[in-house]
This record gives sequence, C-alpha cells and structure tokens, in this order.
Amino acid sequence: MDKAALRLTFFGLLFTCVNLAAKKKQDIDIYSFHINSTITSRYATTVITSRVANLLTQSQEVHFEVKIPKNAFISRFRMTIDGNTYDGVVKEKEEAQREYSEAVSRGESAGLVSAVGRTFEDFKTSVTVAALSKVTFELTYEELLKRRLGKYELLINAQPMQPVADFKIDVHIHENPGISFLEVKGGLNTKDLANAVTTFRADKDAWVKFYPTRDQQTKCDDCSENGLNGNLIIMYDVERLKQSGDLEASEGYFVHYFAPTDIQRIPKNVVFIIDKSGSMSGKKIEQTRLAMLRILSDLAEDDHFGLITFNAYIQTWKPELLKATEGDVEEAKTFVKRITSGGSTDINAAVLKAVDMINKHHQEGSASILILLTDGNPTTGETDLVKIQKNVKKAIDGKFPLYCLGFGFDVSFEFLEKLSLENNGVARRIYEESDADQQLQGFYEEVATPLLTDVHLNYQGVANLTQTTFSQYYNGSEIVVAGQITDNSLESFTTEVIALSKSNKVAYHNNVPTDELNSDRPEHENLIKRLWAFLTVKQLLEKEVTLQGQEKDNAKKEALDLSLKYKFVTPLTSMVVTKPQDEEMQIAHKPKEGEERQTKRASRRKSRPKYDSSLSYRPFGSSGGPSASFLDDSSVRHLDSSVRLLKENRNPTRKEKFLKFISSSSFTVFRDNVRARLPRTTQKPVTTSPPLKSIRILKSSGNAKPLCYDVPLAQKVRLLQNDVSEFFINGQLDSENGFSQIAFHYKTHHHLLLSTSEISYFDGQDTVKFSWDQGLTHHETEHVSLILRSNEMDVTMGNIRVVILLHKKDEVFLWPAVWQQPKDAGFTGILGEADISYEEIPGSQTPTLKLKDKEVKTSWVMVKDYRFSFAPVIGCWLVPFQVVAQRELSDFTVTQL
Ligand SMILES: *[C@@H]1O[C@H](CO)[C@@H](O)[C@H](O)[C@H]1NC(C)=O
Ligand SMILES: *[C@@H]1O[C@H](CO)[C@@H](O)[C@H](O)[C@H]1NC(C)=O
Repeated sequence: MDKAALRLTFFGLLFTCVNLAAKKKQDIDIYSFHINSTITSRYATTVITSRVANLLTQSQEVHFEVKIPKNAFISRFRMTIDGNTYDGVVKEKEEAQREYSEAVSRGESAGLVSAVGRTFEDFKTSVTVAALSKVTFELTYEELLKRRLGKYELLINAQPMQPVADFKIDVHIHENPGISFLEVKGGLNTKDLANAVTTFRADKDAWVKFYPTRDQQTKCDDCSENGLNGNLIIMYDVERLKQSGDLEASEGYFVHYFAPTDIQRIPKNVVFIIDKSGSMSGKKIEQTRLAMLRILSDLAEDDHFGLITFNAYIQTWKPELLKATEGDVEEAKTFVKRITSGGSTDINAAVLKAVDMINKHHQEGSASILILLTDGNPTTGETDLVKIQKNVKKAIDGKFPLYCLGFGFDVSFEFLEKLSLENNGVARRIYEESDADQQLQGFYEEVATPLLTDVHLNYQGVANLTQTTFSQYYNGSEIVVAGQITDNSLESFTTEVIALSKSNKVAYHNNVPTDELNSDRPEHENLIKRLWAFLTVKQLLEKEVTLQGQEKDNAKKEALDLSLKYKFVTPLTSMVVTKPQDEEMQIAHKPKEGEERQTKRASRRKSRPKYDSSLSYRPFGSSGGPSASFLDDSSVRHLDSSVRLLKENRNPTRKEKFLKFISSSSFTVFRDNVRARLPRTTQKPVTTSPPLKSIRILKSSGNAKPLCYDVPLAQKVRLLQNDVSEFFINGQLDSENGFSQIAFHYKTHHHLLLSTSEISYFDGQDTVKFSWDQGLTHHETEHVSLILRSNEMDVTMGNIRVVILLHKKDEVFLWPAVWQQPKDAGFTGILGEADISYEEIPGSQTPTLKLKDKEVKTSWVMVKDYRFSFAPVIGCWLVPFQVVAQRELSDFTVTQL
C-alpha cells in the first residue's frame, strides 16, 4: 500500500470512529456480547463474555452488569485489560471482608451492596479503561437444574445495555438418556425476534442459538434504543429409560437421577392453613382466594382436604378432613369466597390445629401434606419464634411435610424456612405481583401428585453421599443423589430404592457394570464431581439452618471448605477482585434474600442513584480520571484495525469498481456478462452440465430427529435466495465435503466473496479484505455487519444472519449455517426450505415417514454437522431431496457465483 492509501486508511478509520460516536451518541461500544451455556447431565455452566471499547480519547469507567439465576453459584470472574488479566479470587466471606475493610480504611476501596430479585441476582462491576482501549469481562456461573412440573428450565437474561453488533447466545444440552422435548420461551422469543432463535435437536444433544441482528435488538417488545432486554427460557426434559433411574459417573463420582413414572398417584390428605390477618387485606387476600378456588377445583375425588383460616382466632371450614367430592368442594369454595381479612396473627395455634386435624383423620395409603400461607410474623398467642418451631416439630414428629409459603417481604423468611426444613418441607416466597395467584397455584401443582412416600436410596462402596431419604416424591419432580465411589473393586455399581407406593412397598434395583458406568466424554471430566460439590454445598446450607451448636459449626465448615475448593461464591464465601492501579479491590457476595430489604432501605436512605433493587458493586475513586499508564499503541487501533481500504485515484464507476473487485479477488473471473448489479432476470436458473457431486444437508425439523437429504449438485449452486430482501447466496463446490467459495449479494451493490484463503467485501465503493486468521474483527456499514471470529465469518445483511464456517480438519472447505432468516418471507435455494415436520409411520418393515403428504422410505444415517465448528456426528432420517424441495435440481444451478 502506498502512502496516500495509508493516509486514507487512517482517515477512514478515524472517520468511522467519530461517525460511530456521533451517530450512536455513545462513548462506550459493547462490540461483542456472548452467552454460552453448556448443560451436561442437568448441570449447567454458563459463561458471559462482554467485550467493550472506550471510544473516548480519555479514560473512563466501563460497567459490566448482568443478571444470574438465583440458584446458581458464580465460579469465575476475569477481566482482561490490555492483555493483562485480573482474576477474582474466592475467599472466606469474613476474610474477604476484613481485607476489604483494611483497603477501605486506607482509602483505596469502597463498600458493596448485594441484592437479589425474584428470579435473578445482579452482578455489577466496573473498571476504568484508558483512552481508546478495550476491556473483556468474563463471568462463569454454575447450577444444577431442578426438575419441576415435568421439565428443567435454563433461564438466561440478556440486557447488554446497548445494541451489540456481535451478540449471540449459544446453548448446548447433552443428556445421555436422550432429550424428550425442547421448548424455547421468554420475552426474547417473541414476534420478530423469534426469527433469531434456532433450535436443533439430535437424540442426546440439543442446540439453541439466539443470533439477533443489531436492528432487531432495538425492536422487540421490551427492547429500546438501549438494546435487548429480556429472558430466554430453555425448557426440556429427558427420556426415562429405566424406572430405577439414570446413573452417570466419572472420575470416582456418581450421580443418580430417580424419577419413576410407572406408579399410581397416592391420594392426599391436605390441610391448607391460610393467614387472614389485617396485613393480608387488599390484593393479597384477593389473590389467595383466587388461587384457593382453582386449587380446590384441581383436587382429585379421592383426596381428603381441610381448610383453616386464622388471625387471632382459628376458624376451620369443617372440623375434620372431607373427601373432595363435587358437593364438598363447592361448599368449600363458598367458604373461601367469604374469607375476609383483619386482626392479628397466631401462627402457632393455627399450625397445631392443622396437625391435630390430620392426625385425627389419618387415612391408610395416603400422603399427608400441610400447606401454610402467611405474610407476617406471629403477633398473638405464642410469638416466640423458637418456641413455635419447637412446638410444630414436636407435633408433626416427622410424619408428614409442612410447606410454608411466605407472601411478600414483611414475613421472616428465615423463620418459615426453618419451620419447613425441620419438617421435611420447603419454604417458598410468593412475590407481591400481579401473578401471585399463579405462584400459589404453581407451588400447589408441584406437590399435587404424590407418587411415593418414605423414599430411601441405598448404594454400595460409596461415601460422602448427598441426602438419601425423602419423605415424598411428587410427579414431575426428580430425586437426585450424588456421591463418591470408594470401592473400586466392585464389578458393578448397584442402586436400590425402597419406598411406599399407594398400595404396597416398592423396590427399584439397578446393576450397572463398572466399565459401562464411566463416561469417557471429555466434557464430563470433573463435571460429576462439581455437580456433587454443588449439591452438597446447597444441602449443607439448608441443613445448617436446622442444626445447633457443634453440629451447625461442622456443617458450615464443610460447606465453606467445599465452596473454597470448587471456587463457588456461596453465602459463606466472597469473590475478591483486585483491579489495576489505584482502583484496588472489589468484593462480590452471594446476596441473601430478606437481607437485601435492609440494604435496599439503607441505600434508599443514602439516596443512591438507581441501584436500589440490585447488587451494586461499585468501587471508590472510579470517577474516570485519566490514567495514562493504560495507553498502549496497540489498543488505539479500533476494531477495524486490520481492515485494509483500497482506493483509486480516479473515481471509477460502481460497475468498474465491482469488476475490479472481482478480478482483484482471488475468485473465479467471470465471463463478460458479470453481474455488476443484481438483475432479477439473471437469477433464473440456468441448466448446465450434469450434477457433479452430492452433499448431505441436515435439516432441523419440528420433530426430535432431524432430517437429511443428499443434494447432487452442479458446481455452482444457489444456496439461499430471497427476492423481497434482494438477497442471495451462491456456493461453489470443489471439495469432497463442502464449498470452496461462497458469495453473498445484497441490494444491488453489496458483494461478499469468501474462499478458503481469503474474504473480500465490496460495498459499492470500496473493497475490504480480511484474512481468516486475523482475529476478532468487526466491519459494519448500513444494513451489513461482518464479524470475523476464529474460523467463522458471521454475516448479517438486513434481517438475515448466516455464519460461514471454515473447516480445516478433514479437508479445507467452507460451510454455511443459516442462523436467522425471516420465517414467512419465501426463501428459496437448497438451504431455503423452512423447518419441516413429519410423522413416523409405525409398523412398516423399512422405516417410513409421512412428509409433505407423501409416504417416503427412509433410513437412519450418521452425518457430520458442519454447521458447528466441532462438527458433531448426528443421526438423521435420510430422505430424497425431491420430496423435501419439490423442485427440480436444475432450479438450484447457477452459472456464476
Ligand atoms: C461454549 O463453551 C464450551 C465449553 O467451554 C465450548 O466447548 C464451546 O465451543 C463454546 N461454544 C461457543 C459457541 O462458543
Ligand atoms: C404425571 O405427570 C405426567 C405429565 O406430566 C402425566 O402424563 C402422568 O399421567 C402423571 N402421573 C400420574 C400418576 O398422575
């Protein structure tokens, strides 16, 4: 490149930066935001990576704020600034606090507040970034997904605070027993944004990809000019191959998932204890009535039920438990409709009365359950919390579970938690929101169908087991036990589950040869161990609530040791982040619910800006003053740093430029009828020489098992075409496995050519070249965004997002993955077919599918899925291409790229 070109390049770059800043009115560019969740055997590890550039010519504070699910533990946090990494260190909470206080007293750091919301807790941090420099934040958290109402849910929040060019969420699920269903919900899967969600399933694996274009990030329901704001909820369940459960093991640890389905429900004896004190008045009592009416309708006819309402007085609907016949349910509904609120709260007397009722009306072969709903602390009768806990524990005597639902935040949740944990139940908070009635009903549904009681799980040659006895097992839930395998001499691993079902004692046995048990999947490494540690810490923290004295200390110590060993940020540990230069230190605590109300109030009193409901996490002295030491030549270059602009002295016409572009690129030079524009007429298929090769295309389908078909292809083919968007992609096949060249054409003057050696983009004026190995690069013009990552070019043109992967393993070739295409916009081309549903026709000798109203013979084949960089091998139903496309092959042949 000569001097003039160089200067031009520099000005061009400067112009881009200034332009960007002026246009977006922003001085911070979040140029990349990735969320990557990997779920293996119900254990989810999520990594959020945010890359941010300071566009100002002075240093400034850059914030990183994300929401993580409440149930999760943070296990890693790292900042990378100018090539230096700063890792968070997990320490004992007190120790972290001490170090921190010392730093504060030296005037180096400031206090932190933590908070937790209904489903998420916030993680916020910030760091001062030098002029024109970049920072990368990376946060990892882990959680064991709990099965509720027949499914697991992974909840992902996306709120990057501005539209991000390189935004993507990738979720990969691997479940050995197989995935039985997969569904994506949440605010981010609505309307136009739903196009950005791609799901793909193969037997044991499922992938969900959410690749919204920058435009879409401002146009969804809750999105604004600040970009995306919402959740993605990934729901799935697994196949239950054995009633005795699913066993997984690796590196000396095992996990046993037990969720049998072959059992009849056990009728239940349920007593609802409903607080109607003065504080319940208004919306709360209304929602409670609404929920109770629905719950009563859901009772099975062989259930028995009782109703108690209480304030200072205890009122029973009937002195005994009655069978849920139609007549009695109607009568009970009338009682519920008349519940009014007022007076004080006598929890002690109400619960004791309920226990007495259940004890007096015990039914053989049924499961007894107590459900207490209250919104406040006891104010009359016995008000000593410890005494109430003692009384209730003594009265229930381990015979049945007590579930406590705490309505709102005026109730001592710790008290309810202990009350339920001591009596084999759990406590749940009901949030004072418009859906409180559904929260109540939802909780009831979880315990509505008892299948087993007194469940005991036994293993041989093991140690350090998590909880192995459960008072009840409900339909739609799952019992999980993990532990360490200590006896390696055993030839098989044995599990035994003994429990009571409706009519008799049942036992489930399983015997798995030791060599079959261990998974050799590399990603399983450490996983079962971490899962075991996660579950153990969670259970110890619950157990600790109900213990006293030395036992309590021991439980706490054990939980602390494990948290430190596995680097989990739990209620007993904190993460200390030491930052560069004078900003020193920050601490992240696991926020505790209930506690945060006080901090919330405290922070309000101090009138802190806007952080009142979330974990704020800001250091002192981070006002963004200049810190020259960050200045580093390499960081001054912005994202387009490696883009080369080619300029001519003369002003050539667009057509001339395009011709020059084509010839200067290392692509096939076309004959004289080169398309300088995108003439619709030349898109008519041209019949050429007979098909040369055949490639196998995998197609996601509405069904669990994907379809695939062989496309015998001419050398040049139409991959995807959409006339409305003036968009098409062609590909050239030279290799055995995939494409040697792929060309994009968009809106007459955008042309992008990719080969296995280089990439050229012509925007109507200039040509930009990229090389595959130049590292993360982002190039953006109006309606076109190109993001080059390692071995993938992520192309957005309008509302279409296609990633071209460069595969190098078997042979070097390109492969297109369409991650977003407007669903109803009439796409054609060999990739243009929308997702197809089919029916498997049972009973025929060769497998047969009903597809597009035709019966087609099929066979199950294994295919490498090149839409993923690691090219997993996936099974699919092989069907004839003609049935899928309902077109002639010649329709897909083109003469030019
Ligand atoms: C997500 O993380 C996993 C595990 O670290 C990794 O193997 C995978 O390549 C990542 N996926 C993406 C799309 O970055
Ligand atoms: C358990 O729930 C599933 C659906 O979630 C249902 O099909 C099944 O019938 C239920 N079992 C019993 C015993 O109610």
